[in-house]
Amino acid sequence: MKTKEMKARRINIPAQAIESFIRDVLVMEKVVSSAAGYVARGLVNTSLRGVDSHGIRLFPHYLRALKARRINPRPKYKFTKTSPSTGVLDADHAFGHAAGMEAVRRAIELARSAGSGHVSVKNSSHFGAAAFYALEIAKRDMIGMSFTHADSLMLTHNGKEPFLGTNPLCFAAPCEGEGPFCLDMATTMLNFNKVIQSRERKLDLPPGTGTDKDGNVTTDAGRVTNLLPIGQYKGFGLSLMIEILCSVLTGMPYGKKITSMYKDPIEKRRRLGHFFSAIRIDCFEDVGTFKKRLRQLLTDIRNEPRKCKDTAVQVAGDPEKASFRERSVKGIPVSLPEWEALVKIQKEYGVSIGKVKYAKT
Ligand SMILES: NC(=O)c1ccc[n+]([C@@H]2O[C@H](COP(=O)([O-])OP(=O)(O)OC[C@H]3O[C@@H](n4cnc5c(N)ncnc54)[C@H](O)[C@@H]3O)[C@@H](O)[C@H]2O)c1
Repeated sequence: MKTKEMKARRINIPAQAIESFIRDVLVMEKVVSSAAGYVARGLVNTSLRGVDSHGIRLFPHYLRALKARRINPRPKYKFTKTSPSTGVLDADHAFGHAAGMEAVRRAIELARSAGSGHVSVKNSSHFGAAAFYALEIAKRDMIGMSFTHADSLMLTHNGKEPFLGTNPLCFAAPCEGEGPFCLDMATTMLNFNKVIQSRERKLDLPPGTGTDKDGNVTTDAGRVTNLLPIGQYKGFGLSLMIEILCSVLTGMPYGKKITSMYKDPIEKRRRLGHFFSAIRIDCFEDVGTFKKRLRQLLTDIRNEPRKCKDTAVQVAGDPEKASFRERSVKGIPVSLPEWEALVKIQKEYGVSIGKVKYAKT
């Protein structure tokens, strides 16, 4: 490694460069090009939005999972339309990003003719950030919702072990004069990829977010094995709702029976389920009126009196919109270990990311 790389604390990678790199490497591994494109776009968009836990840092893990055939590079999807507004997609162990986008395409198509479209997905894999899908729906003047279950990590309320996963949900709706409103959240205080990032960076976790294996609350990222639900039993209930949509409804395993992303053998298929909904706004309200009213609602909230004058009142999606603006110009920052993992892949495949910027902070 060159001296300037060794001195740098962070490396900024232009979004387009890393997106082509990810796509090219996946295509070299014989991944069907549309799927490679969705994985690359999904990871890069997520990083641009500042959600580093589910962005490009996951690429080396995805590549390992692909090589071990946890992920099928050339899946044969089977879609069954089950009513004018519903369908089931068997994703044949595709990349979650590709399976999710195929389901979203179907949900939008169903909504166009029936008013709303709802698609469940079975035999999928990790789909990254839930926002990638709901935002795609919101681009079509529809309300988008996306859900996935995940492997067991959330401490059961009043229990001493985890059962449910960090099961995230996303709700996105189009808004006048700015990007869609977008609430995208795990049902645990933290998602587990943030714990891994904190371990790598030797940082403590925020208090009250995780426990050790005996259920004792700790901020030591190295000792955290269980994550606490948001809002205690209410978050636990919300996670259970998502589990019902993604496993009971799809026939996929639930809770502790789900293959762990990191702990199980990398060749073991994950058999994850997802659920997507697209709701046409014009079936309820004139689209222009809806977008205008939503903008007014968000503006009214942002203009509420501040408790601390230096801290803005924000609505869900605001931090990600700010990050998107900044990173689209400056590039996506990665830590030195994350960069080293990418350097290894560049050497292995003989593909270059191109010019990057080195930063000391
Ligand atoms: N695929 C999986 O298995 C899986 C599992 C868990 C989480 N995830 C993904 O991880 C990502 C991160 O999830 P998270 O729960 O850690 O996110 P987070 O806690 O950073 O943010 C959650 C939501 O709160 C909003 N928010 C943040 N700060 C705010 C503020 N000051 N005021 C108002 N709103 C604010 C954000 O805009 C976002 O919509 C998501 O994209 C999620 O889909 C994926």
